[in-house]
Amino acid sequence: MRKPIIAGNWKMHKTVAETVALVQELKTLVAGGAQAEVVVCPPFTALYSAGQVLAGSAIGLGAQDMYWENQGAYTGEVSPLMLKDAGCRYVIIGHSERRQYFAETDDTVNKKMKAALEAGLIPILCVGETLGEREAGDTEKIVGVQVRGALHGLSAEQVAGIVIAYEPVWAIGTGRTASSEDANAVCSFIRRTVAGLFGAKSAGEVRIQYGGSVKPENIGELMAKSDIDGALVGGASLEAATFGRIVKY
Ligand code: PGA
Repeated sequence: MRKPIIAGNWKMHKTVAETVALVQELKTLVAGGAQAEVVVCPPFTALYSAGQVLAGSAIGLGAQDMYWENQGAYTGEVSPLMLKDAGCRYVIIGHSERRQYFAETDDTVNKKMKAALEAGLIPILCVGETLGEREAGDTEKIVGVQVRGALHGLSAEQVAGIVIAYEPVWAIGTGRTASSEDANAVCSFIRRTVAGLFGAKSAGEVRIQYGGSVKPENIGELMAKSDIDGALVGGASLEAATFGRIVKY
């Protein structure tokens, strides 16, 4: 059985003090028990402080990006070893905002996937089509290319342990959620793609999230779907009460 995983992607929000306050509140809310594994991904500057508050709790810590080298002359970048050192267990890789604004490609995503796994981090790989691609009927083609590109050269065992987030770009931050049927159809396509590349065992174990305007009102319906194992939540993860309702869907 795959354990559901719900992660909050805070994007470029929250100071250190705001982070500490939010994770403290979440810790109390989640202490009552959530059926899903819960992860928060604050900005780099607040990771260490969040990790200190979350140590020993059931809430996991993740980063929003990383570089693929462990150290060196790469001004402005943060390495997988530094994320481990700051207390991270997870790292989001290939978010559509990074692909769109920071020239992330399937090739750099692949390098980051390998480096994250090498460092013992669990990647949350993001894939998803734009509105134009969906309207052109290219969703499976685009998502298939992204999945194959990102996972190229990984082992079946590595793929079994990662998380993949299907995030249609048109649903991110727009309030427009994919219907649970559409979301499940693409998540199931991703699982079949993984099965074709790495075999049934990896496909059966890999956890696939849906992301894009997830809120307390739609999480239940999404989580009821057979191929959706969790959610990657942006805007609705920035407030403890709202995120708390989502993780206790
Ligand atoms: P949203 O963002 O929940 O604000 O739509 C999701 C994401 O970008 O991960």
